[in-house]
Amino acid sequence: MDKIVIDGGRPLHGHVPIGGAKNAALPILAATLVAPGEHRLDNVPELLDVSTMLSLLGRIGCPSLVSPGSVRLDTSRIIFCEAPYDLVRKMRASVLVLGPLLARRGEALVSLPGGCAIGVRPIDQHLKGLELLGARFELSGGYVHGTAHELRGARIPLDVPTVTGTENLLMAAVLARGETVIENAACEPEVEDLARFLTSLGAHIEGAGTPTIHIQGVSSLRPATAPHRILPDRIEAGTYLVAGAITGGDVTVTEVEPSDLVPVIQQLRNAGCQVDVGEHTVRVRRTGPVRPLDLRTEPHPGFPTDMQAQFMALLTRAEGTSRVTETIFENRFMHVPELARMGAEIEIRGNEACVTGTPSLRGASVMATDLRASAGLVLAGLAADGLSEVLRLHHLDRGYERLVEKLRALGASVARVPEERRDLGVLLEKQAAAK
Ligand code: EPZ
Repeated sequence: MDKIVIDGGRPLHGHVPIGGAKNAALPILAATLVAPGEHRLDNVPELLDVSTMLSLLGRIGCPSLVSPGSVRLDTSRIIFCEAPYDLVRKMRASVLVLGPLLARRGEALVSLPGGCAIGVRPIDQHLKGLELLGARFELSGGYVHGTAHELRGARIPLDVPTVTGTENLLMAAVLARGETVIENAACEPEVEDLARFLTSLGAHIEGAGTPTIHIQGVSSLRPATAPHRILPDRIEAGTYLVAGAITGGDVTVTEVEPSDLVPVIQQLRNAGCQVDVGEHTVRVRRTGPVRPLDLRTEPHPGFPTDMQAQFMALLTRAEGTSRVTETIFENRFMHVPELARMGAEIEIRGNEACVTGTPSLRGASVMATDLRASAGLVLAGLAADGLSEVLRLHHLDRGYERLVEKLRALGASVARVPEERRDLGVLLEKQAAAK
């Protein structure tokens, strides 16, 4: 396994291009199952999770061809309607094939995703909604076996605005007979991008991006004539903006949709940063102190839970005490003990973390536990004095494309090495000398 080695304390400067959104690419890849034929998707990020989804679709009988930033997928034939445990346990978003398989083939055998580091991650809302559309489920041996002789439109009041739950229901309802109304739907931009893709296949969807989505089912769908371009990753963009803020630098993210970053931009400004917004760029500068925040994660358009760890790293540098309240997941503070190893002062009370800012962080060896916690630890390492190393990099590979390369381009002293390497300082000095 690899680790990232960081020689921190350097302000980052420059431009960083942002890739396609992982959390839009995954549902859209699954959605190709509802329209037999050859699909082409552009701006697909080269990530571990995308490879896992393509492996799953390959097992189902749909071969794919990946070229830089683009994927071609042939969903003409479905051989197996199964999402096996060995793939689902690697990526719980595999559950996104449930809706499309029921819609296309009337059958699906999907391993229950099981929990992960950040929480139990149930799928009861997915199953409740699909049952209202006419599916029947049996749970056995850790698998959910769904059958649906015919899907019929229904009113589906969700108890929670689940993102992948809304996406699974969208992908089933587009081929259901009659009208479906999803109430209390998730409003994330990635849900809207999925709806745009489904519409390009011939689906009739209104209200995506709002809490109420109307779908008029159709009898069949076909691949779009033009490739769909995956929307930019607002969480990757937010992560690099915090990298500029936490190091007191000047960083511009490019190829982004600023309208998807409104809560992040607002909180960066509240934290004392200067943020300039262009048509497809956002620039962050920080010269003064980091101001403390009272941050609360909420479903979109609120502050995104996927940016919580990154902002907590920033707030360890604030002049004052901040409060971070995590309302989406029950266990999303795993980065806290690791940040404490770097000298951060954070006290957890239930779903609230009280962060007392300190003048500086000390470099340390820290352990990644989930994708966004890992990102938060890398940001803390960039700001800390001295050497840090973030272990278990496979978490980061799931969601960040070419992270070391992009950070180096911003002036960071970072390297990716096998975990057993010990000569960290020498390594980074050689890298600096090589420049
Ligand atoms: C999506 O996960 C994202 N993943 C997550 O990003 C993101 O953190 C999350 O939405 C919230 O924004 C993808 O899109 C692939 P939820 P999802 O269902 O859909 C409860 C990342 O780092 N719930 O919206 O699994 C659940 O327990 C990942 O990129 C139910 O109770 O999240 C949680 O408390 C991490 N029953 C809350 O809803 C259900 O049936 C939100 O979960 C479903 C969810």
